[in-house]
Amino acid sequence: MIIEYVNGPAAVNDTLVFPVVSGGLAAMMDRLPEAFRGVATSATEQARFEAKAGTVFETYVADGASTRRMLLVGAGSGDDMGYERAGAALSVRLIASGVTSAFADLTGASATGAARFALGASLRGWRIDRYRTRLPANQKATLERVAIVGAAAGSEAAWDQLRAVAEGVAFTRELVSEPANIIYPQSFVERCEVLSAAGVHVTSYDEHQMAEFGMGALLGVGQGSARPPRLLTLEYKGEGAPDGAPILLVGKGVTFDTGGISIKPALGMEDMKWDMGGAGAVAGALLALAKRGAPVHVVGVCALAENMPDGNAQRPGDIVTTMSGQTVEVINTDAEGRLVLCDAMTWAQRRYKPEVMVDLATLTGAIIMSLGRDHAGIFSNDDTLTRELVVAGLSVEEKLWRFPLNATYDKLIDSQIADMKNVGPRDGGSITAAQFLQRYVEPGVKWAHLDIAGMVWSDKDLPIAAKGATGYGVRLLDAFVMAHGVKSEATA
Ligand code: BES
Ligand code: MN
Ligand code: ZN
Repeated sequence: MIIEYVNGPAAVNDTLVFPVVSGGLAAMMDRLPEAFRGVATSATEQARFEAKAGTVFETYVADGASTRRMLLVGAGSGDDMGYERAGAALSVRLIASGVTSAFADLTGASATGAARFALGASLRGWRIDRYRTRLPANQKATLERVAIVGAAAGSEAAWDQLRAVAEGVAFTRELVSEPANIIYPQSFVERCEVLSAAGVHVTSYDEHQMAEFGMGALLGVGQGSARPPRLLTLEYKGEGAPDGAPILLVGKGVTFDTGGISIKPALGMEDMKWDMGGAGAVAGALLALAKRGAPVHVVGVCALAENMPDGNAQRPGDIVTTMSGQTVEVINTDAEGRLVLCDAMTWAQRRYKPEVMVDLATLTGAIIMSLGRDHAGIFSNDDTLTRELVVAGLSVEEKLWRFPLNATYDKLIDSQIADMKNVGPRDGGSITAAQFLQRYVEPGVKWAHLDIAGMVWSDKDLPIAAKGATGYGVRLLDAFVMAHGVKSEATA
């Protein structure tokens, strides 16, 4: 779908779209087509259209000899999020409606409001149809273009930035949606090669190099699979970025999680194709930041492995030596996320000496028990970093809720025979998982772990994503890095 800023007028076939703020219908009367103006108040009242964010009133109006389709879309209170929802509502209604072109009048919206409208339309218009060879004609996407008119000065520049974010989210959704026979460690790396065109330095390491690094935990997870593990790094340093250490983002990239020898039940196991959602979000965020030319220095590291049962798979009770030198008793091969992350974290901290490290992982089912699907969990050793991430998440409605870390929880993963075991008791499962990761945080590093298991995939339609891959994390990381990683005026 192409979104473009234009100067009117609408073409004959364009569907007209008017965002409306609550209580704002009367004020916009003179922008409505004449044929509709007279009945607008009564018609919208009868339809009980109150312009709540994301709601739609659809009608047809006579326009000379032709009949024109027209939508009023609710922008709520008229803040940026309201306009984003209004843009999303446009896509929900028109994406497969037969309409090919929409003409949206953003007169009255702020510059950022109009840009967020475009973002909402773009995000909610995303779909993956490549495997549907028999899709009935009336279910195929038809909407090709959204023209934006009347936007305030500066809106197009704001959209140029947000367009990059939309591309990052789309990239992540695609990686997450693809099945595990298509996306496995090596093909994940190959998909990410497109990031070089955007100015990202893409490097990957194979299982032999990882053995040289001493990544016994990551390799242990991958050893039951015919698809060998990979470590992928995505480094971006934009023009004007501050000197010094990069912000480090680390993602769990388990391209399929059967559980290994501690095998998962069959019911719902297909969901585990999206167990690489953390790595997917890291890759999408790097794409977004590079495409928007952000003046930041950021490195993404993806720990890629497939967790399979096999004659060569690791067994419960195996002891592996991590790159940090610490040993782990693998009690449960299904607690593999922390095993791939710990080595990636050690390697990345030693290589990049970051001040800040954020990891994202579909780490535990327990986080879904705790928070459901409205918040991801955040665990951190630093209050300021936590606040920055929570605030960034709120600004884009990718919400985080903080969980505790302490020595009492930490003790629960002590092992009889090794330095630690990879699972604690059932209780507090998300916290002991985070405690495990904290044992791999190097001194002085401010670290946050985001357990996004409940957020990567949605079984129902959401305001800005159809059911399926959500792209959770990309906008959050983009907002966080833009706020944290840009050189402040004082130090510039
Ligand atoms: N990838 C899963 C976590 C998960 C579960 C994500 C459901 C999304 C939906 C992770 O590797 C896992 O299997 N965790 C185990 C840990 C347990 C063995 C301590 C879990 O949550 O059951
Ligand atoms: Mn698992
Ligand atoms: Zn997993």
